[in-house]
Amino acid sequence: MTLKITVLAGLFLINGSSLSGQAATVTLRFADAKTVINKNIYGHFAEHLGHCIYDGLYVGDSNRLIPNTEGVRNDIIAALKILKVPVLRWPGGCFADTYHWKDGVGPRKNRPVTINKWWGGVTENNSFGTHDFLNLCERIGADPYLAGNAGSGTVLELSQWVEYVNGEGQSAMSDWRKANGRIHPWNVKYFGVGNEAWGCGGNMTAEYYSNIYKQYATFMADWGNSKHLFRVASGANGDDYHWTEVMMRDIPKNMIEGVSLHYYSVIDWKAKGPAAGFSRQQYFATIRQALRMEELIAGHEAVMDKYDPQKSIALIVDEWGGWYDVEPDTNPSFLYQQNTMRDAVLAGVTLNIFNNHCNRVRMANLAQIVNVLQSVILTNKQKIILTPTYHVMEMYNVHQNATMIPVSLENIFYVEGNDSLTAISVSASRDSQSVTHISIANTDPEKANTVNIQWQGPVLKLEKGRILQSSGIGDHNSFDDPDKIKPRLFTGAKIKDNELQVILPPASVVVLTLR
Ligand code: AHR
Repeated sequence: MTLKITVLAGLFLINGSSLSGQAATVTLRFADAKTVINKNIYGHFAEHLGHCIYDGLYVGDSNRLIPNTEGVRNDIIAALKILKVPVLRWPGGCFADTYHWKDGVGPRKNRPVTINKWWGGVTENNSFGTHDFLNLCERIGADPYLAGNAGSGTVLELSQWVEYVNGEGQSAMSDWRKANGRIHPWNVKYFGVGNEAWGCGGNMTAEYYSNIYKQYATFMADWGNSKHLFRVASGANGDDYHWTEVMMRDIPKNMIEGVSLHYYSVIDWKAKGPAAGFSRQQYFATIRQALRMEELIAGHEAVMDKYDPQKSIALIVDEWGGWYDVEPDTNPSFLYQQNTMRDAVLAGVTLNIFNNHCNRVRMANLAQIVNVLQSVILTNKQKIILTPTYHVMEMYNVHQNATMIPVSLENIFYVEGNDSLTAISVSASRDSQSVTHISIANTDPEKANTVNIQWQGPVLKLEKGRILQSSGIGDHNSFDDPDKIKPRLFTGAKIKDNELQVILPPASVVVLTLR
């Protein structure tokens, strides 16, 4: 693409959009690069909610219309492999604290039919259970993260789940697993002790939950596996720093490996606005909420640093994403929403925040993987679409397990009426092959913005750039036009006078490769 640049009273026009006269300046601090970006920051979340599992990931092994492997759609398996999903959380969410895992193992015809209390009171036939989930994770190369039931379950039930999936020798639970067709344990590492204990997980106080947590954690043995269990305490809602304080203060360090945080970019819980067809003001409000993740992580980090300056306990953002009104004529309890370029920008800025805080944030799980909230895949009978968010997660997967390069940023602003937000979001990393990747998002929906990137240290050549962008912030893929938005080659970056100059189109996400 050749850029047509016209000077216009302090502004420039690039292919029709204005270019702000100012530039952001980024300094890559190679000398300070030491922390690895845990690949699990690129994790996902699948709940028994709406059509995430049933008629989403899972269509049943008797389905002859949609090619599947043990009931899981082959097209979704292929797409998730390309995405390099590192970790997948299941079975909830709120559903987790109503889920009794024994209902979902053994011959399907013997499994009880239960009611999904939180999500529309629909019938749950338990046909997708522990084996189905763990085998799916194996197939896509993801680590499973099981969310245990600490709200309506028992300590025994969760400890037996651990034994069932991880027991190696002879024991009641591992024998049962073998009888159900799986000889070798799955060696599940990640376990959550309940979900949103302050809300749908039991409406507990932090002080009460921390006691419950210790009781559960005590009996979660790791059954002689080489992997140690990684136990995650149900964490704070947004800016509830007191919750994190109590977890860190009251739970001994040898009983906890991670504490979670849930935060959704919602404009207003009573007026969330449409997922597509939103106004510029709604776009601004969503991105402002997304950028708040920086403040929240810094706030929880400060509390954690007080009790754990060595940073041995991880902050696990196991639910994040945009949350809007459901699509018209869909079940309001199913949380099905469209996914637009707004979500791509939201994902780009959020992942940059996680990368930059990787010394404490070691896992994050986008809510949710298919057909629910900010999904990477939407399904409609035989068809699927990959959303703009899918493409950002795929472009950014180059950061997985690379060493984060700290950045200093002199920002410029996206102005909306009397309000403004930072326009540029950036993070960078160097992988094991010494390849540097820089991911940048321009939040401004109207103005192209220039970013000048400098560094001292390695001599680097620009190898390639990829961009996700469309003409409108509300643009999205559809079943009739599934490839409207997909990554393209980016030609707006050049090295000039020892500086990398990048011109980002409005509302765009770019990943650059330098070698
Ligand atoms: O992701 C949807 C719901 O949001 C989850 O079930 C719950 O944990 C959160 O409140």
